[in-house]
Amino acid sequence: MSLKILLVENIHSIAAERLEAEGFEVKQIAHAPSEKELLELLPGYDILGIRSKTEVTRKVIESNTHLFGIGAFCIGTNQIDLKAAKSWGVPVFNAPHANTRSVAELVIAEMIALSRQLCDRSGAAHRGEWMKSADGSREVRGKTVGIIGYGHIGSQLSILAESMGMRVLFYDVVKKLPLGNARPTRLLEDLLENSDFVSLHVPETPQTRNMIGKKQIAKMKKGSYLINASRGTVVEIDSLVSALKSRHIAGCALDVFPEEPASNKEKFRSDLQGLANVILTPHIGGSTEEAQYAIGLEVAESFRRFLKIGTTAGAVNFPNVELPPGHGACRVLNVHKNEPGVLGEINGIVSKAGANIQAQFLATDEKIGYLVMDVETRAAKKLVQEIQSLERSIRTRQLIAKA
Ligand code: NAI
Repeated sequence: MSLKILLVENIHSIAAERLEAEGFEVKQIAHAPSEKELLELLPGYDILGIRSKTEVTRKVIESNTHLFGIGAFCIGTNQIDLKAAKSWGVPVFNAPHANTRSVAELVIAEMIALSRQLCDRSGAAHRGEWMKSADGSREVRGKTVGIIGYGHIGSQLSILAESMGMRVLFYDVVKKLPLGNARPTRLLEDLLENSDFVSLHVPETPQTRNMIGKKQIAKMKKGSYLINASRGTVVEIDSLVSALKSRHIAGCALDVFPEEPASNKEKFRSDLQGLANVILTPHIGGSTEEAQYAIGLEVAESFRRFLKIGTTAGAVNFPNVELPPGHGACRVLNVHKNEPGVLGEINGIVSKAGANIQAQFLATDEKIGYLVMDVETRAAKKLVQEIQSLERSIRTRQLIAKA
């Protein structure tokens, strides 16, 4: 029996290609189905793949508890009721870092564009104005970029910037290995005072909310540039507008905003509109064909490993278990409430059935435990039924797909 996978919202075709090559049956649809449509469609499928526009509500999950897993072929997972999925033993996978190179490249482009006032001059040329002048135009070579948040994006930006002859400073709350000749600063202020470009690559947390405000902007070098392609809440827009108007900051490039339109049909408004040397982009840092391809590959691979091996590494709502493939034995997957004594009960059943446990892997979080067992038995179906009948078992199944 081949497992059936439903992919919606025009997910990159590489995902279907890879999953079909693994022997799964894949159906693709281009639009984001409504709750009603999902309720009609899902009973025929074992796995659902969505992007950011399909809402997977508690009702959808509770009406489809047969689902093995859900894949978000994007970064965010807010559109899925993760708690409901977890309580029914359904892991949710995403691809959090597949688009990071795209963001780093955009920042490189923006540093050059800002220091040459490219967008303003191009706009002028379109209007028939000729703005030929070298005043205030500089190369990025030899300049310093200060990277705040040296994670997946920040560290890639560091390498790309150095390869253009830039100096790199970075500030992170976690100790990070500096790449190339990049130098960490102990304080955020040190970075702000010494950078020609400041680029933000931190997550949205209570600590990063408004982390670049009036005080921090005042510390930045006169004539420097600010780039934010992280999260809109990180920069205090009023303070940035004042600094641009007073020419303390020579320009900025923002890809993210405190309030963003929910769709391309909504109007976008910002106090930064109309200011000189200000690049505003509609949250496209990670929006490239290559990123879509990489996301398609990454989530398809998570599905393959989960369906064929039982691995939940990378699941956002589930204990992560990284497993070797089984060797001949029957692999049983069990999700249970994380309460004392459950493992003992399961082992009791296995031992009563006279089955030999070859290997056992267990990971837990505060709510659930995910147990994978390789057992030698001729009565796998009965064993699975008995384990599932335990009061605290949420879901038990035998691995169906062949690795
Ligand atoms: P990451 O998790 O790999 O790196 C974030 C880094 O920030 C970590 O090294 C962390 O230690 C550091 N950090 C956390 N709090 C900090 C603080 N208060 N001060 C200094 N450093 C701090 O994340 P990644 O993948 O590099 O993404 C960075 C940001 O870019 C995220 O906000 C993400 O949402 C955003 N992003 C934006 C995209 C776009 O389209 N514009 C696309 C992809 C990501």
